[in-house]
Amino acid sequence: MDSLVPDAVRRTIVALRRDIHQHPELAFAESRTANALERALSALGPVSMQRVAGTGVVARIKGTTTGAPVVAVRGDIDALPIQEATGLPFASVNAGVMHACGHDVHAAWAVGAAHLLAARPAAGDVLVVLQPAEETGEGAAAVLKSGALDDVAAIFGAHVDRRFTVGQVVAQAGSLAASADTFEIRLAGRGAHGARPHESADPVVCAAAIVSALQTIVARRVNPATPAVVTVATIHAGSALNVIPDSATLGGTLRAVDPQTRELLAREVRQLSEGIAAAYGLTATAQLTPGPPPIVNPEQPSTWARQAVESLLGAEAIVPLGITNMAGEDFAYYMERIPGCFMRVGARLPGEAVIPAHTPQFHAAEESLLVGAAVLAETARVASMALAAQ
Ligand code: NI
Repeated sequence: MDSLVPDAVRRTIVALRRDIHQHPELAFAESRTANALERALSALGPVSMQRVAGTGVVARIKGTTTGAPVVAVRGDIDALPIQEATGLPFASVNAGVMHACGHDVHAAWAVGAAHLLAARPAAGDVLVVLQPAEETGEGAAAVLKSGALDDVAAIFGAHVDRRFTVGQVVAQAGSLAASADTFEIRLAGRGAHGARPHESADPVVCAAAIVSALQTIVARRVNPATPAVVTVATIHAGSALNVIPDSATLGGTLRAVDPQTRELLAREVRQLSEGIAAAYGLTATAQLTPGPPPIVNPEQPSTWARQAVESLLGAEAIVPLGITNMAGEDFAYYMERIPGCFMRVGARLPGEAVIPAHTPQFHAAEESLLVGAAVLAETARVASMALAAQ
Protein backbone atom coordinates (compact mmCIF):
# COMPACT_ATOMS: atom_id res chain seq x y z
CA MET A 1 0.00 0.00 0.00
CA ASP A 2 2.88 2.33 0.85
CA SER A 3 3.95 2.75 -2.75
CA LEU A 4 0.50 4.09 -3.76
CA VAL A 5 1.11 7.55 -2.34
CA PRO A 6 4.39 9.49 -1.88
CA ASP A 7 5.52 9.90 1.74
CA ALA A 8 4.82 13.63 1.92
CA VAL A 9 1.22 13.19 0.74
CA ARG A 10 0.74 10.25 3.08
CA ARG A 11 1.87 12.33 6.06
CA THR A 12 -0.45 15.18 5.03
CA ILE A 13 -3.57 13.06 4.68
CA VAL A 14 -2.95 10.90 7.76
CA ALA A 15 -2.58 14.05 9.88
CA LEU A 16 -5.61 15.62 8.20
CA ARG A 17 -7.76 12.54 8.77
CA ARG A 18 -6.81 12.31 12.45
CA ASP A 19 -7.54 16.01 12.92
CA ILE A 20 -10.95 15.77 11.24
CA HIS A 21 -11.78 12.59 13.14
CA GLN A 22 -10.94 14.25 16.44
CA HIS A 23 -13.11 17.29 15.66
CA PRO A 24 -16.24 15.90 14.00
CA GLU A 25 -19.04 18.24 12.95
CA LEU A 26 -22.64 17.55 11.98
CA ALA A 27 -24.30 18.27 8.63
CA PHE A 28 -23.95 21.89 7.44
CA ALA A 29 -21.98 22.77 10.60
CA GLU A 30 -18.61 21.58 9.23
CA SER A 31 -16.90 25.00 9.52
CA ARG A 32 -13.74 23.87 11.28
CA THR A 33 -13.56 20.87 8.94
CA ALA A 34 -13.91 23.08 5.85
CA ASN A 35 -11.13 25.36 7.12
CA ALA A 36 -8.83 22.37 7.72
CA LEU A 37 -9.58 21.04 4.24
CA GLU A 38 -8.90 24.43 2.64
CA ARG A 39 -5.58 24.65 4.49
CA ALA A 40 -4.56 21.18 3.30
CA LEU A 41 -5.46 22.12 -0.28
CA SER A 42 -3.58 25.43 -0.05
CA ALA A 43 -0.39 23.42 0.53
CA LEU A 44 -0.63 22.69 -3.22
CA GLY A 45 0.26 26.28 -4.01
CA PRO A 46 -2.09 28.51 -5.96
CA VAL A 47 -5.16 26.32 -6.51
CA SER A 48 -8.54 27.64 -7.51
CA MET A 49 -10.96 26.96 -4.65
CA GLN A 50 -14.52 27.94 -3.93
CA ARG A 51 -16.88 27.54 -0.99
CA VAL A 52 -20.17 25.93 -1.96
CA ALA A 53 -23.31 25.01 -0.03
CA GLY A 54 -22.02 26.81 3.08
CA THR A 55 -19.42 24.37 4.36
CA GLY A 56 -18.50 22.63 1.11
CA VAL A 57 -15.25 23.23 -0.78
CA VAL A 58 -14.59 22.66 -4.49
CA ALA A 59 -11.00 22.81 -5.73
CA ARG A 60 -10.06 22.77 -9.40
CA ILE A 61 -6.86 20.88 -10.23
CA LYS A 62 -5.57 21.90 -13.63
CA GLY A 63 -5.29 19.30 -16.37
CA THR A 64 -2.66 19.09 -19.09
CA THR A 65 -5.02 20.02 -21.92
CA THR A 66 -7.07 23.20 -21.98
CA GLY A 67 -10.69 22.54 -22.89
CA ALA A 68 -10.57 18.78 -22.19
CA PRO A 69 -13.66 17.37 -20.41
CA VAL A 70 -13.83 18.01 -16.67
CA VAL A 71 -14.05 15.11 -14.20
CA ALA A 72 -15.00 15.35 -10.51
CA VAL A 73 -14.07 13.29 -7.45
CA ARG A 74 -16.14 13.69 -4.33
CA GLY A 75 -15.52 13.14 -0.62
CA ASP A 76 -18.22 13.80 1.97
CA ILE A 77 -17.17 15.46 5.23
CA ASP A 78 -19.92 15.35 7.89
CA ALA A 79 -20.21 13.31 11.10
CA LEU A 80 -23.06 11.69 13.04
CA PRO A 81 -24.77 12.36 16.40
CA ILE A 82 -23.18 9.32 18.11
CA GLN A 83 -20.94 9.15 21.20
CA GLU A 84 -17.62 7.66 20.09
CA ALA A 85 -16.31 4.50 21.79
CA THR A 86 -13.42 3.49 19.52
CA GLY A 87 -10.65 4.16 22.04
CA LEU A 88 -8.56 5.69 19.24
CA PRO A 89 -5.85 8.14 20.35
CA PHE A 90 -7.52 10.70 18.07
CA ALA A 91 -11.09 9.93 19.17
CA SER A 92 -13.72 12.68 19.03
CA VAL A 93 -13.37 15.52 21.52
CA ASN A 94 -16.91 16.69 20.66
CA ALA A 95 -19.36 14.98 23.02
CA GLY A 96 -22.09 13.09 21.20
CA VAL A 97 -20.61 13.68 17.74
CA MET A 98 -18.49 11.18 15.88
CA HIS A 99 -17.18 10.18 12.48
CA ALA A 100 -19.03 6.86 12.60
CA CYS A 101 -19.40 6.52 8.83
CA GLY A 102 -15.83 7.16 7.70
CA HIS A 103 -16.42 10.58 6.14
CA ASP A 104 -13.21 11.71 7.91
CA VAL A 105 -11.39 9.29 5.62
CA HIS A 106 -13.43 10.30 2.55
CA ALA A 107 -12.55 13.98 3.09
CA ALA A 108 -8.85 13.23 3.57
CA TRP A 109 -8.57 10.89 0.61
CA ALA A 110 -10.20 13.47 -1.68
CA VAL A 111 -7.55 15.97 -0.56
CA GLY A 112 -4.95 13.25 -1.17
CA ALA A 113 -6.32 12.79 -4.69
CA ALA A 114 -5.95 16.56 -5.21
CA HIS A 115 -2.27 16.32 -4.23
CA LEU A 116 -1.69 13.32 -6.50
CA LEU A 117 -3.43 15.02 -9.42
CA ALA A 118 -1.48 18.23 -8.92
CA ALA A 119 1.73 16.21 -9.13
CA ARG A 120 0.56 14.14 -12.12
CA PRO A 121 -2.41 15.86 -13.75
CA ALA A 122 -5.24 14.32 -15.72
CA ALA A 123 -5.95 15.39 -19.30
CA GLY A 124 -8.75 17.73 -18.28
CA ASP A 125 -9.29 19.69 -15.07
CA VAL A 126 -10.43 17.66 -12.06
CA LEU A 127 -12.80 19.13 -9.51
CA VAL A 128 -12.22 17.86 -5.98
CA VAL A 129 -15.60 18.15 -4.28
CA LEU A 130 -15.66 18.19 -0.46
CA GLN A 131 -19.34 17.84 0.27
CA PRO A 132 -21.18 18.66 3.50
CA ALA A 133 -24.30 17.03 4.87
CA GLU A 134 -24.32 13.59 3.30
CA GLU A 135 -25.93 12.03 6.37
CA THR A 136 -29.03 14.19 6.06
CA GLY A 137 -29.22 13.56 2.31
CA GLU A 138 -29.06 17.32 1.64
CA GLY A 139 -25.44 18.06 0.75
CA ALA A 140 -25.16 16.73 -2.80
CA ALA A 141 -28.30 18.56 -3.92
CA ALA A 142 -26.96 21.79 -2.38
CA VAL A 143 -23.60 21.39 -4.15
CA LEU A 144 -25.39 20.78 -7.47
CA LYS A 145 -27.56 23.84 -6.91
CA SER A 146 -24.45 26.00 -6.50
CA GLY A 147 -23.66 25.38 -10.17
CA ALA A 148 -20.05 24.44 -9.33
CA LEU A 149 -20.42 21.09 -11.12
CA ASP A 150 -22.23 22.36 -14.21
CA ASP A 151 -19.37 21.54 -16.60
CA VAL A 152 -18.55 18.10 -15.14
CA ALA A 153 -18.63 15.18 -17.60
CA ALA A 154 -18.10 12.32 -15.11
CA ILE A 155 -18.05 12.02 -11.32
CA PHE A 156 -16.51 9.43 -8.99
CA GLY A 157 -16.80 8.75 -5.29
CA ALA A 158 -16.34 5.95 -2.80
CA HIS A 159 -17.25 4.77 0.69
CA VAL A 160 -15.08 2.93 3.19
CA ASP A 161 -16.39 -0.55 3.94
CA ARG A 162 -15.13 -2.82 6.73
CA ARG A 163 -16.66 -5.88 5.11
CA PHE A 164 -13.61 -5.71 2.86
CA THR A 165 -9.91 -5.65 3.74
CA VAL A 166 -7.62 -2.78 2.81
CA GLY A 167 -6.64 -3.17 -0.83
CA GLN A 168 -9.98 -4.59 -1.93
CA VAL A 169 -12.24 -2.34 -4.01
CA VAL A 170 -15.80 -2.75 -5.33
CA ALA A 171 -16.19 -0.93 -8.65
CA GLN A 172 -18.98 -2.75 -10.40
CA ALA A 173 -21.72 -1.65 -12.72
CA GLY A 174 -25.28 -1.97 -11.40
CA SER A 175 -26.95 -1.45 -8.04
CA LEU A 176 -24.72 0.05 -5.33
CA ALA A 177 -27.15 1.79 -2.97
CA ALA A 178 -30.91 2.06 -2.44
CA SER A 179 -33.35 4.94 -2.48
CA ALA A 180 -34.00 6.23 1.03
CA ASP A 181 -37.41 7.89 1.27
CA THR A 182 -39.24 8.57 4.51
CA PHE A 183 -42.90 8.66 5.47
CA GLU A 184 -45.00 10.00 8.30
CA ILE A 185 -48.62 8.99 8.87
CA ARG A 186 -50.86 11.16 11.05
CA LEU A 187 -53.98 9.48 12.38
CA ALA A 188 -56.87 11.67 13.48
CA GLY A 189 -59.53 9.86 15.57
CA ARG A 190 -61.60 10.60 18.64
CA GLY A 191 -60.31 10.31 22.19
CA ALA A 192 -62.32 8.89 25.09
CA HIS A 193 -62.09 7.57 28.65
CA GLY A 194 -59.99 4.40 28.68
CA ALA A 195 -62.97 2.59 30.23
CA ARG A 196 -65.36 3.56 27.40
CA PRO A 197 -63.61 2.50 24.13
CA HIS A 198 -66.94 2.40 22.24
CA GLU A 199 -67.06 6.19 22.47
CA SER A 200 -63.67 6.56 20.75
CA ALA A 201 -62.19 6.25 17.30
CA ASP A 202 -59.03 4.70 18.71
CA PRO A 203 -55.80 5.76 16.92
CA VAL A 204 -53.66 3.30 18.93
CA VAL A 205 -55.49 0.19 17.71
CA CYS A 206 -55.61 1.68 14.21
CA ALA A 207 -51.85 2.39 14.30
CA ALA A 208 -51.19 -1.22 15.31
CA ALA A 209 -53.28 -2.47 12.37
CA ILE A 210 -51.42 -0.16 10.00
CA VAL A 211 -47.99 -1.30 11.24
CA SER A 212 -48.99 -4.92 10.59
CA ALA A 213 -50.54 -4.14 7.21
CA LEU A 214 -47.46 -2.25 6.01
CA GLN A 215 -45.47 -5.49 6.37
CA THR A 216 -47.62 -7.00 3.61
CA ILE A 217 -46.27 -4.50 1.05
CA VAL A 218 -42.94 -6.29 0.78
CA ALA A 219 -44.50 -9.71 1.46
CA ARG A 220 -47.44 -9.43 -0.96
CA ARG A 221 -47.02 -6.50 -3.36
CA VAL A 222 -43.34 -6.49 -4.31
CA ASN A 223 -41.96 -9.15 -6.64
CA PRO A 224 -39.99 -11.52 -4.34
CA ALA A 225 -36.99 -11.21 -6.67
CA THR A 226 -36.84 -7.45 -6.08
CA PRO A 227 -35.21 -6.01 -2.96
CA ALA A 228 -37.39 -3.63 -0.91
CA VAL A 229 -37.68 -2.48 2.70
CA VAL A 230 -40.59 -0.93 4.62
CA THR A 231 -39.53 -0.05 8.17
CA VAL A 232 -41.83 1.61 10.71
CA ALA A 233 -39.37 3.28 13.05
CA THR A 234 -41.51 5.58 15.22
CA ILE A 235 -44.96 5.49 16.85
CA HIS A 236 -46.18 8.29 19.07
CA ALA A 237 -49.55 8.35 20.81
CA GLY A 238 -51.10 8.97 24.17
CA SER A 239 -49.92 10.35 27.50
CA ALA A 240 -52.01 8.67 30.23
CA LEU A 241 -52.76 5.03 31.00
CA ASN A 242 -56.52 5.54 31.26
CA VAL A 243 -57.09 7.84 28.29
CA ILE A 244 -57.62 6.89 24.65
CA PRO A 245 -55.85 9.65 22.72
CA ASP A 246 -57.39 11.34 19.71
CA SER A 247 -54.35 11.14 17.48
CA ALA A 248 -51.24 9.12 16.70
CA THR A 249 -48.31 9.45 14.35
CA LEU A 250 -46.09 6.79 12.90
CA GLY A 251 -43.14 7.10 10.60
CA GLY A 252 -40.36 5.20 8.94
CA THR A 253 -38.24 4.61 5.88
CA LEU A 254 -38.72 3.03 2.44
CA ARG A 255 -35.86 1.45 0.48
CA ALA A 256 -35.76 0.22 -3.10
CA VAL A 257 -33.12 -0.28 -5.78
CA ASP A 258 -35.26 0.55 -8.82
CA PRO A 259 -37.64 3.43 -9.60
CA GLN A 260 -40.75 1.26 -10.13
CA THR A 261 -40.49 -0.43 -6.74
CA ARG A 262 -39.71 2.92 -5.16
CA GLU A 263 -42.99 4.32 -6.51
CA LEU A 264 -44.92 1.22 -5.53
CA LEU A 265 -43.76 1.44 -1.90
CA ALA A 266 -44.84 5.06 -1.59
CA ARG A 267 -48.21 4.39 -3.23
CA GLU A 268 -48.96 1.35 -1.06
CA VAL A 269 -48.03 3.10 2.19
CA ARG A 270 -50.51 5.84 1.36
CA GLN A 271 -53.28 3.49 0.19
CA LEU A 272 -53.02 1.05 3.08
CA SER A 273 -52.84 3.68 5.79
CA GLU A 274 -55.72 5.71 4.36
CA GLY A 275 -57.85 2.61 3.71
CA ILE A 276 -57.29 1.06 7.13
CA ALA A 277 -57.87 4.34 8.90
CA ALA A 278 -61.18 4.75 7.04
CA ALA A 279 -62.22 1.21 7.98
CA TYR A 280 -61.51 2.03 11.64
CA GLY A 281 -63.44 5.32 11.49
CA LEU A 282 -60.36 7.58 11.52
CA THR A 283 -58.57 9.63 8.90
CA ALA A 284 -54.96 9.13 7.91
CA THR A 285 -52.72 11.69 6.26
CA ALA A 286 -49.61 10.12 4.82
CA GLN A 287 -46.74 12.41 4.00
CA LEU A 288 -43.94 10.97 1.87
CA THR A 289 -40.60 12.77 1.73
CA PRO A 290 -38.29 11.72 -1.08
CA GLY A 291 -34.65 11.08 -0.14
CA PRO A 292 -31.77 10.10 -2.40
CA PRO A 293 -32.69 7.92 -5.41
CA PRO A 294 -30.98 4.53 -5.88
CA ILE A 295 -27.40 4.39 -7.17
CA VAL A 296 -27.05 2.24 -10.25
CA ASN A 297 -23.51 2.51 -11.63
CA PRO A 298 -23.54 2.73 -15.43
CA GLU A 299 -21.26 0.43 -17.45
CA GLN A 300 -18.73 2.84 -19.00
CA PRO A 301 -17.60 4.85 -15.94
CA SER A 302 -17.43 1.61 -13.90
CA THR A 303 -15.04 0.19 -16.50
CA TRP A 304 -12.81 3.26 -16.08
CA ALA A 305 -12.84 2.82 -12.31
CA ARG A 306 -11.93 -0.87 -12.55
CA GLN A 307 -9.16 -0.07 -15.03
CA ALA A 308 -7.71 2.38 -12.48
CA VAL A 309 -7.95 -0.12 -9.60
CA GLU A 310 -6.34 -2.84 -11.68
CA SER A 311 -3.42 -0.66 -12.72
CA LEU A 312 -2.77 0.35 -9.09
CA LEU A 313 -3.52 -2.84 -7.18
CA GLY A 314 -3.85 -5.68 -9.68
CA ALA A 315 -6.96 -7.48 -10.91
CA GLU A 316 -7.30 -9.45 -7.65
CA ALA A 317 -8.10 -6.21 -5.80
CA ILE A 318 -11.49 -6.00 -7.51
CA VAL A 319 -14.15 -7.78 -5.49
CA PRO A 320 -17.92 -8.08 -5.91
CA LEU A 321 -20.22 -6.16 -3.53
CA GLY A 322 -21.74 -9.53 -2.63
CA ILE A 323 -24.91 -8.11 -1.09
CA THR A 324 -27.73 -5.81 -2.09
CA ASN A 325 -26.98 -2.59 -0.24
CA MET A 326 -30.27 -1.17 1.09
CA ALA A 327 -28.60 1.90 2.62
CA GLY A 328 -28.96 5.24 0.86
CA GLU A 329 -26.14 7.51 -0.33
CA ASP A 330 -26.69 11.05 -1.54
CA PHE A 331 -24.02 10.65 -4.25
CA ALA A 332 -27.08 9.38 -6.15
CA TYR A 333 -28.16 12.99 -6.77
CA TYR A 334 -24.98 13.66 -8.75
CA MET A 335 -25.58 10.56 -10.81
CA GLU A 336 -29.06 11.70 -11.80
CA ARG A 337 -27.28 14.44 -13.77
CA ILE A 338 -23.71 13.21 -14.33
CA PRO A 339 -22.56 9.71 -15.30
CA GLY A 340 -20.14 8.19 -12.81
CA CYS A 341 -19.25 5.33 -10.54
CA PHE A 342 -19.56 4.92 -6.79
CA MET A 343 -17.09 2.48 -5.25
CA ARG A 344 -16.58 0.71 -1.93
CA VAL A 345 -13.06 0.71 -0.54
CA GLY A 346 -11.92 -1.97 1.92
CA ALA A 347 -11.23 -0.47 5.36
CA ARG A 348 -10.35 -3.37 7.67
CA LEU A 349 -6.94 -4.93 8.27
CA PRO A 350 -6.82 -8.72 7.91
CA GLY A 351 -7.87 -10.35 11.18
CA GLU A 352 -9.74 -7.27 12.41
CA ALA A 353 -13.46 -7.33 13.16
CA VAL A 354 -16.13 -6.22 10.70
CA ILE A 355 -17.55 -3.23 12.55
CA PRO A 356 -20.77 -1.83 11.07
CA ALA A 357 -20.89 1.87 10.17
CA HIS A 358 -23.09 4.16 12.29
CA THR A 359 -22.01 2.42 15.51
CA PRO A 360 -19.86 3.89 18.34
CA GLN A 361 -17.00 1.48 17.56
CA PHE A 362 -16.72 2.21 13.83
CA HIS A 363 -13.45 3.46 12.37
CA ALA A 364 -11.68 2.84 9.08
CA ALA A 365 -8.13 1.50 9.00
CA GLU A 366 -5.68 4.31 8.26
CA GLU A 367 -4.23 2.39 5.32
CA SER A 368 -7.57 2.76 3.48
CA LEU A 369 -6.69 6.46 3.09
CA LEU A 370 -3.90 5.63 0.69
CA VAL A 371 -6.06 3.27 -1.39
CA GLY A 372 -8.92 5.77 -1.65
CA ALA A 373 -6.68 8.70 -2.58
CA ALA A 374 -4.78 6.73 -5.21
CA VAL A 375 -7.89 5.08 -6.68
CA LEU A 376 -9.82 8.36 -6.97
CA ALA A 377 -6.87 10.15 -8.58
CA GLU A 378 -6.15 7.35 -11.03
CA THR A 379 -9.86 6.90 -11.88
CA ALA A 380 -10.02 10.61 -12.68
CA ARG A 381 -6.98 10.25 -14.97
CA VAL A 382 -8.39 7.21 -16.79
CA ALA A 383 -11.84 8.78 -17.20
CA SER A 384 -10.39 12.09 -18.28
CA MET A 385 -8.21 10.52 -20.95
CA ALA A 386 -11.09 8.38 -22.26
CA LEU A 387 -13.47 11.35 -22.36
CA ALA A 388 -10.89 13.54 -24.09
CA ALA A 389 -10.49 10.86 -26.78
CA GLN A 390 -14.24 10.58 -27.44
NI1 NI B 1 -21.42 7.38 4.87
